[in-house]
Amino acid sequence: MGNGSDDILNLLIRVFAGPGAAAGFTLPSYSLYPVLVAIQDGGCEVIEFDRSMRLPVERIAATKAKIFFLTSPNAPTGVAFPNAEIEQVLRVFPGIVVVDEAYAPFAKENAVPLLARYENLVVVRTFSKAYALAGIRVGYALASAKVIELLDRVRDSYNVSRLSQAAALAALGDQAHFEGLVTRVRATRDAQLRAFAVRGWFTYPSQANFIFTEPRDAGGVTGAAVAESAYRFLFARKVLVRHFPSHALTAPFLRISVGTDDEMLVLNQNLDAWLKAPPNA
Ligand SMILES: Cc1ncc(COP(=O)(O)O)c(C=O)c1O
Repeated sequence: MGNGSDDILNLLIRVFAGPGAAAGFTLPSYSLYPVLVAIQDGGCEVIEFDRSMRLPVERIAATKAKIFFLTSPNAPTGVAFPNAEIEQVLRVFPGIVVVDEAYAPFAKENAVPLLARYENLVVVRTFSKAYALAGIRVGYALASAKVIELLDRVRDSYNVSRLSQAAALAALGDQAHFEGLVTRVRATRDAQLRAFAVRGWFTYPSQANFIFTEPRDAGGVTGAAVAESAYRFLFARKVLVRHFPSHALTAPFLRISVGTDDEMLVLNQNLDAWLKAPPNA
């Protein structure tokens, strides 16, 4: 267990990456991986997606990395990789494969069943997303005893406080509350995916608690400038979404967290207003 799943990711990098041992990950994915690798003076093997956001298994297999991080469902796209594809990576990649499942409770499938068959698999989970308990800072890794023993060697002796352990246990004990939260988020997410389909906006099939959509302006134009215009319009009206302008694959999109149904109504009303507004309104 770790002080959030970030602690687990850091332990994994400290054990398996460093000078002469590169860590691999996809782009886009969770932005913390390169930060943690840099702290350990490790090299990065970055595998860029194309617009399909499908897993490039052969290119991952060809890296020199000792450990490879897959985020599934991925951030910020929400795209989940089927177990059949993760299994292909596990078969061909000779090092440790980490599946960062921060958002897996919102997805159809998860990699846990693969643990019994692959000693090089590590699944990382957190209480921060679906349990809505980011403040207690609890995450955990599921892996073979051999890998867990290595993580344990570098772990701080008291990395999860007693209070946080009690909170995590209480959360695990209330599955009805948890399942209620997840069901509500999924229903609101799927309704919002349909709303974007009706608008004719290209949107990745999210299996997370956020949606990555490509805004299309009233003239039918998409692109980084259009996404930025929508972002600024929403921001000025206190609707906070994320825009990732630094990469061509992400710049034309917005990442929108799934909120309450009322919040999504406010979002949709403001997007209608943006479509009718003059430029730079
Ligand atoms: C993919 C992914 N992994 C891990 C984390 C870290 O979560 P925590 O350290 O709160 O468990 C995040 C948080 O944004 C995330 O998006």
